Amino acid sequence: MLILAIESSCDETAAAVVRNGREVLSNVVFSQADMHALYGGVVPEIASRNHITVISRLTDSAVCQAGISKSDIDAVAVTYAPGLIGALLVGLNFAKGAAMALGVPLIPVHHVRGHIAANYIAYPELEPPFVCLAISGGNTMIVDVRGYTDMHVIGATRDDAAGECFDKAARVLGLPYPGGKPMQDLAEGGSDTAYKLPRAHVDGNPYDMSFSGLKTAVVNLAHHAQQTGEELDRPGLAASFAAAVSDTLVPRAMRAVTALGYDRIVVAGGVAANKRIRADFEAAAKAAGKQLFIPPLSLCGDNAAMIGCQGYYELISGVTAGSDLNAYATMELDALEA
Ligand code: KG4
Repeated sequence: MLILAIESSCDETAAAVVRNGREVLSNVVFSQADMHALYGGVVPEIASRNHITVISRLTDSAVCQAGISKSDIDAVAVTYAPGLIGALLVGLNFAKGAAMALGVPLIPVHHVRGHIAANYIAYPELEPPFVCLAISGGNTMIVDVRGYTDMHVIGATRDDAAGECFDKAARVLGLPYPGGKPMQDLAEGGSDTAYKLPRAHVDGNPYDMSFSGLKTAVVNLAHHAQQTGEELDRPGLAASFAAAVSDTLVPRAMRAVTALGYDRIVVAGGVAANKRIRADFEAAAKAAGKQLFIPPLSLCGDNAAMIGCQGYYELISGVTAGSDLNAYATMELDALEA
């Protein structure tokens, strides 16, 4: 089963060819990050226009690099939610056209389900059930993954996503967008106890999280230093910030895996690239005797291979869509396809 996969939910245009869900024959990603860095964040209109410019050639490259011809493709998988609506619509309509022209099924894939599936590519032995902490630019959630398409969100951020918080903190410290990696680099050599930053507790659900207080604390420290001329310990602030994010995420995810009685903890999404979070998960999983799965850096960020992988499992569970499939800016992870 050869699946052509398309991803365009934010500022990466991506196409991939995946065989039987787990074998990646090609995985081509075009990042627009440099174009958006100028504005300090993604400009939706610019993202959509860039997707249009590159998506056709990028897909041709993915097919060519896979060493197949278009007629070998058995289905087309596409991210249809959540994300920037204009950006999603470019990939979705391109995928619809491809599926129609090839006479093959169209498979709608939830973006965060794709991030989780990146781990199936990285770890051929990995199977549900497990707990997954999905941490990206727009989403932060703890998911009970009972089956390849049977998932339940048991906790989520009540406000900002972890990646959004990294990007905002980076911005006030004068670092480029996307801010996660520059914040990580700045934190090298800084003390993680240099600043006392909040770790929010959310009433009602032990797995829910909040990052807006942490974001505001960093913004206030930066503005205060600017106004008073006080020197900011920037590496210390970046290290203290990473520690606060990690202290919010790691214990909740570990508590969930223990409470559900699973022996595997999985981490997914762009923020899973973070060194501090990876190190804290390694220590916590070892202490709890749980198996830890985190994708290599190449599969943490947005890509289409993960969409092809999840698309395979959606297809074999009977999920396909017609040419009236729409894109959605928001969509519950555990909702059925539209
Ligand atoms: O998964 P992703 O590529 O896109 C979405 O689906 O949102 O995640 C992008 C996010 C950005 O907020 C970026 O700053 C963050 O992942 N990120 C990191 C690191 N690398 C990327 N955050 C912390 N540390 C990193 N090393």
